[in-house]
Amino acid sequence: MAIDLADGRPLLPSTVAPGPAGRKLLGSLLEVRRDRIQFVENATREYGDFVAFRMGPKNLFLLRHPEHFRHVLADHSAKYVKGLGLAEARAFLGEGLLTADGVVWQQYRKLLEASFQGGRLDSYSSQIHGVAKSWLARVERMAHSGDVVVDVAHEMNLVTLRIVGLTQFGWDFGDECAATIAEDLHTLNDWAMRRMMSLVPLPLWMNPAAFQALGRLRTIALEILARVQKSDCNGIGSALASEPGGPEAARDQVLTFLLAGHETTARALAWAVGLLGGEDAGPVERLRAEAGRLGHVPALAELQQLEYTRMVFEETLRLYPSVWLLPRKAIAADCIDGFEIPKGADVLLSVYSLHRHPKYWVDPDSFLPERFAKDRAANRPAGCYLPFGLGKRACIGSRFGMLEGMMLLAMFAQRLRWRRVDAGAMPAEGTLSLQPRGGLRIRIAPVGAPMGA
Ligand code: HEM
Repeated sequence: MAIDLADGRPLLPSTVAPGPAGRKLLGSLLEVRRDRIQFVENATREYGDFVAFRMGPKNLFLLRHPEHFRHVLADHSAKYVKGLGLAEARAFLGEGLLTADGVVWQQYRKLLEASFQGGRLDSYSSQIHGVAKSWLARVERMAHSGDVVVDVAHEMNLVTLRIVGLTQFGWDFGDECAATIAEDLHTLNDWAMRRMMSLVPLPLWMNPAAFQALGRLRTIALEILARVQKSDCNGIGSALASEPGGPEAARDQVLTFLLAGHETTARALAWAVGLLGGEDAGPVERLRAEAGRLGHVPALAELQQLEYTRMVFEETLRLYPSVWLLPRKAIAADCIDGFEIPKGADVLLSVYSLHRHPKYWVDPDSFLPERFAKDRAANRPAGCYLPFGLGKRACIGSRFGMLEGMMLLAMFAQRLRWRRVDAGAMPAEGTLSLQPRGGLRIRIAPVGAPMGA
């Protein structure tokens, strides 16, 4: 059943209850502010696949059925543009590929797609290997120095940012510069989330921290573009160097790929390490044995030999989809599954809830990589697993992300042992991506050495 959370009345097909502002509205607004994941989980568990609610003047529809995803993202995608959160991110990503719509998006998608196809991906694998080796050498040195705890979410940000830098723009920033970029992107991400929830949204220049972060990032983006001219990079940098939109448009694409090209993979890797670092050592030992059998870091063509690593990474993306919510705004009236969607309404497709939908997943909250074994995955109903989105706006870097995620996970397990410091559930925070709340601390030791207390 669909419910209007603003006034608790059931929604009948073809109606949208007006839902006056009141105590319930304030309640749901506060709940959304406090914990977005919990709000979405509670709402879908209690009311089902289609939930209508209001936030301030906004009409929102929270959806989790596979058919709803196909309706909005594929079959009727012309009626929707990017929505909540991404609309705010436009203040710093401009008309970058993630936030643009219409003709501008179309032109850039065509221009940049070649950088993620065929032979290009193979050429990236040796660069990913090079960066990962130098980053791991530092982490290993730390591990050798004794009882060491690291925030794996932070560490994964550094290595994935360096990988985007080298593969796409021909420049390995190094850990220190990557840390500054990650921090500034985090500040802007945070600003976008606050603005999204604000009843009186203020422009970015009125927030000094966000304004300064954007200034630094734009300077780096321009430096990246200047270096691209002199490097022999074959990633999107080479396409942007000759693109007709001018330096500001190219700068916005650089910022977009710095964000979208690192954060998603970094989050997935951090969650995978966290899931493998719990009480049950079975999965991590199996993954380590598989990586050890290969003996070296796999090239693209050898990835199929890392069958269990793939299963772990895919199961991680099911439980903790980096892009946990796909927000869209209706630019025309629509009707989904018998419910009217007025023009201007916000539609939120909850990937997080889809991936834990009790109708499609047995024991949905448990970490069970075996469900992604090839013979079992073939029996899964279509459309209930969408970590990379769907339709024309699906992830441009999905194969790159899988390659990078599997390689890094295999290398990490080849060289290190680890255990999660905080036992129990790993609390998630739903920002533009799904991140471990307060980071994710692990105790590390080199393979073969005993683990500290
Ligand atoms: C595990 C890793 C990744 C995951 C889970 C992921 C997920 C996604 C999802 C779900 C979308 C669709 C968003 C929407 O429809 O609103 C998306 C879009 C996008 N992703 Fe990824 N992504 C990953 C890795 C990457 C990488 C490595 C890159 C680039 C190097 C990248 C660049 C982008 C861009 C530019 C878009 C916007 C595409 C468009 O609208 O045309 N992603 N990603």
